[in-house]
Amino acid sequence: MKTLLTPAAALLVAAIATPAAAAGDATKGAAAFKTKCQICHTIAAGQKGMIGPNLRGVIGRKAGSSDFAMYSPQLKAFGKPWNAALLDQWLTGPAKMVPGARMAFMLPAKADRDDIIAYLATQK
Ligand code: HEC
Repeated sequence: MKTLLTPAAALLVAAIATPAAAAGDATKGAAAFKTKCQICHTIAAGQKGMIGPNLRGVIGRKAGSSDFAMYSPQLKAFGKPWNAALLDQWLTGPAKMVPGARMAFMLPAKADRDDIIAYLATQK
């Protein structure tokens, strides 16, 4: 039996398999970050965290590992490095992902999460 995909089907599979972050719009994410995250988080290089940790370079960084003083013990113990999939889960419900997490905020809309994650990926 022939199982090779037609070129069109292969393209479709590739599009579906693209990671969530790639679907986001970093420019929209920058604007959304300002209105939704910046109340608690800075992303400016070298700036101390405020109510939450500084998010510059957060992708690839181990959760709870910046010099922020007020992490929950649960997030520090979580121990995994942030990637697009984990951030998507975190922003859907921090305390659902890490019981005891102190971030009282979530983004129910997938498009908002994708845009902000795409923006975070540009802030290295
Ligand atoms: C009401 C304040 C508040 C808002 C708004 C908020 N956060 Fe947070 N965030 C926190 C706090 C507090 C923590 C630390 C949580 C802990 O230690 O359990 C945190 C932690 C994080 C972390 C983990 C960072 C690390 O160093 O491990 C990420 C990622 C994050 N927030 C992303 C976001 C994004 C993106 C937004 C906007 C969509 C946002 N947060 C909005 C307060 C906030």
